Amino acid sequence: MKTIECMDEMQSIGQEARANGKKIALVPTMGYLHRGHASLMEEGRKRADLLVVSIFVNPTQFGVGEDFDSYPRDMENDRAVAEAAGVDYIFAPRAVDMYPSGYQTYVNVEELTLPLCGANRPGHFRGVTTVVTKLFNLIAPNVALFGRKDYQQLAVIRQMVADLNMQVEVIGMPIVRDADGLAMSSRNSYLSPAERVSALCLSRSIRTVKAAFHGGERSVAALKKIVIDTIGKEACAVIDYVEFRHCTTLAPMDRADEQTVLALAVKIGKTRLIDNGILGEE
Ligand code: PAJ
Repeated sequence: MKTIECMDEMQSIGQEARANGKKIALVPTMGYLHRGHASLMEEGRKRADLLVVSIFVNPTQFGVGEDFDSYPRDMENDRAVAEAAGVDYIFAPRAVDMYPSGYQTYVNVEELTLPLCGANRPGHFRGVTTVVTKLFNLIAPNVALFGRKDYQQLAVIRQMVADLNMQVEVIGMPIVRDADGLAMSSRNSYLSPAERVSALCLSRSIRTVKAAFHGGERSVAALKKIVIDTIGKEACAVIDYVEFRHCTTLAPMDRADEQTVLALAVKIGKTRLIDNGILGEE
């Protein structure tokens, strides 16, 4: 496994591999790698000859007052996780190279980025789609893998790839959870032990809603109340949003069906966590 900082070098490797008929898989990340990231890399390994993981804490997707400066970083552990997953190249560019002074081009997906995380994080998805486009141009992957943990992000990337005719197959991968149900996230490292326990209210509320749905409840208002009540029991939890949306269009729904996704963002103390579940899935 080799770590590459230089954008030109990365681009040459990608182009040469493609010219030789090799299939490239890319897993874009911001590092502080955990089993969720590893599951994407393992799937990428199966689908391609060359597996690249990018590690780049992308400044353009963080808003003012968000955690860009404190975002956790641990390159040594990231190398170990990537190596164990069979990664060929870690691409870890520098922010000054990705966004040199004078940089002024952004990619923006419109309607899909307005609700949910887009509503409270203006500019966030514009930063995500811009950096993912740059990574696609630099690495030339045939396949790119994303987690369903960031549900809206995956939908936005699929939309961008379709709208801009990008020749990349986008694969969405299941959410990897700790044994107690907490969705794995680099940001879980911000939680104190007590907050870590409180954070279980996200996955618990998804499980409770799925049980009510399977028991016949279809009213989104009633299902939403279950989430609000479950999260309301945790003193340090503040809801950012609780939304029931169609799983592909993200259109709001009054009546739930198998294709409804429950998407949540909740602040546990100072840490904002997201989670989701499709009601028709176990
Ligand atoms: P990051 O939060 O590091 O996540 C990288 C990828 O790992 C994303 O596709 C995310 O959905 C996936 N992932 C994170 N936790 C997961 C879990 N518990 N189970 C399954 N997949 C999980 O998402 C980003 O970085 C950035 O926005 C990025 C796409 C790299 C652009 O900067």
